[in-house]
Formats: sequence, C-alpha cells, structure tokens
Amino acid sequence: MAAIASSPLLLQLNRALPRGFRLPSPSSRRLFLGFGASLLGQLGLMASGGGRFSAASAWPQQGLSPVEQVLKNVDWPEEFPFKAEDFSRFAESSDSSFYSEPRFVTHIDDPAIAALTKYYSKVFPPSNTPGVSLLDLCSSWVSHYPPGYKQDRIVGMGMNEEELKRNPILTEYIVQDLNVNPKLPFPDDSFDVITNVVSVDYLTKPIEVFKEMQRILKPGGQAIMSFSNRMFWTKAISIWTSTGDVEHAWIVGAYFHYAGGFEPPVAVDISPNPGRSDPMYIICSRKKFNTA
Ligand SMILES: C[S@@+](CC[C@H](N)C(=O)[O-])C[C@H]1O[C@@H](n2cnc3c(N)ncnc32)[C@H](O)[C@@H]1O
Repeated sequence: MAAIASSPLLLQLNRALPRGFRLPSPSSRRLFLGFGASLLGQLGLMASGGGRFSAASAWPQQGLSPVEQVLKNVDWPEEFPFKAEDFSRFAESSDSSFYSEPRFVTHIDDPAIAALTKYYSKVFPPSNTPGVSLLDLCSSWVSHYPPGYKQDRIVGMGMNEEELKRNPILTEYIVQDLNVNPKLPFPDDSFDVITNVVSVDYLTKPIEVFKEMQRILKPGGQAIMSFSNRMFWTKAISIWTSTGDVEHAWIVGAYFHYAGGFEPPVAVDISPNPGRSDPMYIICSRKKFNTA
C-alpha cells in the first residue's frame, strides 16, 4: 500500500484536486480494475456525486469548476498511468452488433445540446471558409453543429450507416469500428477540427486513436472531446464506469498528453444549469505547430 500511496499518479491527482481536498489512501477497491482505475476511483469517491463531495465547497474563489481545475498545471506521471484492464468493458461483445440498429435519439438533454452548439459556434472556423475540413468521430444522425453551418468537407465516422446517412451536416461518412481498427483513413494534416460527442468513453484503444487524430489534424487544428455523465454503461471502458466527471476530464486530458504532439489539454465546463440538466464538459487541445 505504501508504494501505491506515494505513487506519482496519486501525488499528481492530489495536486489536481481543488484546494483542501486530499485523496484517501488506496483501499482494496481494485476488483477487476487496473492500477489507474483504482486510484482514479479513490478520487471519484470524493469528487463525484452521492453527497460525498460538496460542489459548493469545492468551487474555489476564482470560479472554476472542479472539472476545469483538474487540468490546470498538470504534472503528468512519466509513465502511462493506465493498465490494459482499465480499457476492458462489461460487454466485450462486438460493437458492430451493438450498433447494428439505428438509434434516432439524442443522448443528452436539450440544454446540454444547446450549450455544446453554442460552444462550437464560438470556436469553429466561420461557416463556408474555403479549404476548411471537419471530422466528427463517433458520429450518428446528429453532430450538434451550429444551425446552417457548412464547409466543403465535413466527414462523419461512426458505427451505423443509417444514422450517418441521415446526418444533414455531413458531406461524407465512413462506418468503421475504431476498437477494431483505430487507424483513421485520411492523409496527414487533413482536418481543421475533430469533434467527438459523448463517446470518448467507448474507445478501448484511445491512445492509438488520439495519435491518429494528431496525425490527421492540420498544425494548430483543434480536437474537441465532449462528454456528459450518461453512457451505455456496458460498453464504456471500466476506468470510466468506475469514476466520475472530474476523473473523466483527467482521463481524456491524459489521452492527449500521452498521445503526444498536442498542446496541453484544457477543460471547459459548459454545463448549462448545474444540477438541473445534464452536465456538459469539453476537453480540447490543438495539434502543436512544431512537433520536432
Ligand atoms: C452515445 S452515441 C453518441 C453519438 C453522437 N456522437 C451523438 O452525440 O449523438 C455513441 C456513438 O459512439 C460511436 N461508437 C461507439 N463505439 C464505437 C467504435 N467501436 N468505433 C467507432 N465508433 C463507435 C457510435 O457510432 C455511437 O453512435
């Protein structure tokens, strides 16, 4: 236990917590989870819901939410902090069969969608800018882009062709299981923006996918990962299902960091009505101009 308690990951997470909060020593809560999940789970005990963490007391004077604080000045552990079992899932059955039927539903509530669309409208390149290309990963029949938004090329990649076919924002689509083949079928430096809405938790090979995102983004291009607190529980990776919103921000930040070639990731809390509608968080970064 002592070795774990003084591990770089634990020290890092303690540093990341809002002032005044410390992680308890790791317990035997590991079950089938890996090392990273165990420690992140401990952070989750304090940081997510269940009355265990008072949002009011955790929000510091400067007005940043706990999710926004967790990626401030991170001193990332030298070694990749997760284990293979952190990326296992309750249902290891094929994703192709899970997503074979289209779901013409929305996965977050209307205020959360509106917050995401508003965020996109602030950070996307202006509509109809010549040469601009966007990619929506883990896409479906909706991308939540601003109404009327257009570019010559907006590609959707997802699992269900009927959903993608009906997505009005897309100029093209590709059906590909990223957990089977994480290689993104595009040349280097192809896209100005990559989005991924409420789906980063389904990636079992996230570092491979993030490396690919880095490769196909143009220098300075932005990757915008968003998530809420809902999921297809059986299909999300175990480190996600065993932790809460603050740790999820740290996990996605870690994907950017360990993939390499990205600017330090930033967390933005765009939750429209904290506690009253679905929370909504963005973890974003840009491809570095000079990766040498
Ligand atoms: C909760 S839905 C979100 C869909 C859409 N982004 C939205 O906001 O409505 C999860 C999406 O993740 C995608 N997905 C899940 N597993 C995947 C995999 N193994 N490879 C590629 N995409 C996957 C599916 O296309 C599915 O539509």
